[in-house]
Amino acid sequence: MRSTVQPVETTSGEGTQAVPGVRVEVYVKPGDAKRALRQEVLQGLCGSPKELSPRWLYDERGSQLFDDITRLPEYYPTRREREILLAHAGDVARLSGATTLIELGSGTSEKTRLLLDAMEEAGQLSRFVPFDVSEAFLRRAAASLAREYPGITVHAVVGDFEHHLSRLPGGGRRLVAFLGGTIGNLKPTERARFLRELSSGLQPGDGLLLGTDLIKDRARLFAAYNDSAGVTAEFNRNVLRVLNRELGADFDPEAFEHVAPFDEHNAWVEMRLVSQRTQSVWLSSLKRRVDFAEGEVLRTEVSCKFEQARVEAELDAAGLGLAAWWTDGAGDFALSLALKRG
Ligand code: SAH
Ligand code: AVI
Repeated sequence: MRSTVQPVETTSGEGTQAVPGVRVEVYVKPGDAKRALRQEVLQGLCGSPKELSPRWLYDERGSQLFDDITRLPEYYPTRREREILLAHAGDVARLSGATTLIELGSGTSEKTRLLLDAMEEAGQLSRFVPFDVSEAFLRRAAASLAREYPGITVHAVVGDFEHHLSRLPGGGRRLVAFLGGTIGNLKPTERARFLRELSSGLQPGDGLLLGTDLIKDRARLFAAYNDSAGVTAEFNRNVLRVLNRELGADFDPEAFEHVAPFDEHNAWVEMRLVSQRTQSVWLSSLKRRVDFAEGEVLRTEVSCKFEQARVEAELDAAGLGLAAWWTDGAGDFALSLALKRG
């Protein structure tokens, strides 16, 4: 996945209208993504247990389905994090003193506007760097943000936060926001590596604003990932459509059931696709057949749930000192502000 070539730099979206004020750097080009997917599928689907990285859930349709999830009555994290940002965006601006806001896994950057507004109000905002692997979605979001914040530079980066953190633009006091609980989609070892790499690229005093979902009543956790409208199920099955399109596979998405139990031992919700029958899938671009037994599981995502002590310890191990910990009124979700130690 690591790109050895220079990024494609543009001031307008390919195939879209030129957007003044937006610069786009691309570190994950479609060919790179396809190669990485092929490699991952060879390892992750041809062995046992079967597993894929959640990254592949986010093609354009998957990004749209996640956006739909954020409005479901059962899916509380987005609303809770918004509540915290409404209360504390001004504190974040003040305590971080940042002039550049970088957002990893930015998606629509919907809630981020609260931070941008607070930083603008404090007279300190000069640059916004949305960073996401979902290119078309990112380009659209960056164009909207450039129109809404004409006084700042919008510098979008199409990258994988597990591979391209060294490409984050430098300069000025920076705050990296990683919202939504997306850090929980990394397993503990991946998370430790991610935090170390992120921290090593920061200057003393730069900040990380981290959203983490908290351990809570199991029924509410279950409902959030098994919604009654079936949107999360469609989001999960979407990865099979991605494989069909990108690798010429012939998955029947309806032959897989979405299940998402809470794993008490690992303190994570695990999204799975369960084969409803014995079946074989042909992956034409890999010239491989993959067999599924009835009831066999393909793991597509983990979503770790946290307690304050764990978040603080993991940040600390990466050289990031906790400066503030805020939760919503119900104690469902937390935002941590951590500063890189000198
Ligand atoms: N931050 C937003 C969106 C969260 S959804 C919110 O809080 O609502 C997770 C986002 O991370 C998606 O936009 C997805 O495209 C992006 N993403 C997932 N894996 C990624 C990776 N490895 N590198 C970069 N972005 C990734
Ligand atoms: C993006 N991420 C934090 C979401 C989560 O809750 O783990 C993705 C998601 N998976 C199922 N529903 C939402």
